[in-house]
Amino acid sequence: MASAVKRIGVLTSGGDSPGMNAAVRAVVRTAMYRGIDVIGIRRGWNGLISGDVFRMDAQSVAHIINRGGTILYTARSDEFRTEEGQKKAVATCKLLGIEGVVAIGGDGTFRGCLALSKHGISVVGIPGTIDNDIGCTHYSIGYDTAANTAIEAIDRLRDTMQSHERCSVVEVMGHRAGNLALYVGIATGATVVLVPEHEWDFQKDVAERIRAARLNNHTHFMIIVAEGAFNDDEIMKNPGSGNMVAKMIREELGIEPRVTVLGHIQRGGAPNARDRVTATRMGYWAVECLAGGKTNRVVCHQGGTICDMDMEEALAVPHSLNASEDRVLEAMIGSER
Ligand code: F6P
Repeated sequence: MASAVKRIGVLTSGGDSPGMNAAVRAVVRTAMYRGIDVIGIRRGWNGLISGDVFRMDAQSVAHIINRGGTILYTARSDEFRTEEGQKKAVATCKLLGIEGVVAIGGDGTFRGCLALSKHGISVVGIPGTIDNDIGCTHYSIGYDTAANTAIEAIDRLRDTMQSHERCSVVEVMGHRAGNLALYVGIATGATVVLVPEHEWDFQKDVAERIRAARLNNHTHFMIIVAEGAFNDDEIMKNPGSGNMVAKMIREELGIEPRVTVLGHIQRGGAPNARDRVTATRMGYWAVECLAGGKTNRVVCHQGGTICDMDMEEALAVPHSLNASEDRVLEAMIGSER
């Protein structure tokens, strides 16, 4: 079937995540297969505003499926939030004949897509964020690799905590969401996991659990704290959620926790198999949407299947924790420790 678009752009926006390159590669290769021109847009929406673009072909995406980061660079664009910025981006599209844009990022990126589509440019979003906090999709590119990076680091920490009989407080990324912390907490057998989605009480959920573990003859404790666990911007910036919990533990229990903020390490590294394959399937799907004349779509992963959803509806789906993981964690913490 003939494609509805002749030339499309591709960009990455917001925080990068492992697998974004695999998605870019899939977009380019699928477009070429369909006879569609692809323009790479550098530094997210900023590149569309300033015309920082280049022609892409099979050569430009060769040997990137295994690379972390994004070859297109990424940014969070304040200018694109303004009417003026959006007009400049549309002007670039008109000048270059870009009829559709595939944008890889989080829900902020999708809101940018909607702004562009109001000016007649077709848009498709691909979820790419280690936070896995986009309500419409069960999976966003980079989550599994980031989780495995965190798990490997925490396993190493456990070795030394065990030797020294210490308490470890590990702060995990996720912005306002606790998905990554919850998942990592299950995989590492943490003593405590604190996430922003659940109200928690320091005495009951931290101090008493450490005491119970100690009474069960454990002499090291692993406390996983989502960076947004306090739901408080100030704490998130300074001292940080991990440091805050450590201070409370020190004051209440008289032990000296060691704090590790995993930070941006979780965003880097080679994507694992799940992220490479999911990104490739999503990139393919996004181009098929545009070629089929669709616009305002978000590519989603639901129950193992790739599908697409209206972007406004997708943005309206509230983010939530994975309910079954949530229940499992409750049981694991209750029984083992
Ligand atoms: O959204 C991805 C993410 O890594 C969040 O987990 C984190 O809060 C934020 O980005 C950090 O952003 P920056 O790279 O601007 O420090």
